[in-house]
Amino acid sequence: MNIIKLSAIASTNDYLKSLSTTQYLENFTIVVAEHQTAGKGQMGAKWDVQPGKNLTFSVLVKDLLLGINEIFNLNAAVAVSIIEALEENNVKDLAIKWPNDILAGNKKIGGVLIENSIKNNGEIFSVVGIGLNVNQTDFEGLPKASSVAVVTGYEHDKTVLLKAIVENLQRNVAALLHKNAAPIWTKYHKKLYKKGVPMPFEKDGQRFMGIIQDVNSSGNLLLLLEDDTVAEFKIKELQMLY
Ligand code: BTN
Repeated sequence: MNIIKLSAIASTNDYLKSLSTTQYLENFTIVVAEHQTAGKGQMGAKWDVQPGKNLTFSVLVKDLLLGINEIFNLNAAVAVSIIEALEENNVKDLAIKWPNDILAGNKKIGGVLIENSIKNNGEIFSVVGIGLNVNQTDFEGLPKASSVAVVTGYEHDKTVLLKAIVENLQRNVAALLHKNAAPIWTKYHKKLYKKGVPMPFEKDGQRFMGIIQDVNSSGNLLLLLEDDTVAEFKIKELQMLY
């Protein structure tokens, strides 16, 4: 594994993106930082965690051409790879909250931010950014956040978890390249948080109840609504009030 270790950087995603546009890097090159000064979360949010205690890293995934209707396959593979790595390390009660938040004991312990780019020479690559709360135990003011150490009751070796995640990701990306996404999706659906349970949502200021049926390979959420129809929602148009 080609690992670039940094003590501090603005964002491992931004750093890996700029490195890979200017030089050759092998597939699955990892950039890991002890501290990010401008860590990025989903939807323009910040990813701010205690320095030194957690995993903040990015992995380069090259040449994975996904069709328009399978654009979410890499997200599903990443979420599943994290879940598998945590299970291998005896972390229990795990779930994936759509689209790809990692929960343990109903609280968020990890998040994923994937950014896709094209080089001048036409090569495509994805930067898979992963934030996993590992040994942080103080979450004052963050009632919905937790960590691996909080749920297991003991500290974990961050490098062991990092390697397990990336090894699983290599295997799962290879499966995608071989057009074998089905086992990844089976695992994703099995772990989908609140599947089959009526939950509150909001769209365009309107609140409503829906029952999560599925997530499709475009990454859209399928909800059974109160009028017995199933509707498809994009990530950006729906707020989850749970
Ligand atoms: C989320 O909002 O749930 C996604 C969080 C992703 C955070 C990771 S930490 C490593 C990588 N670098 C970044 O700037 N963000 C991602």
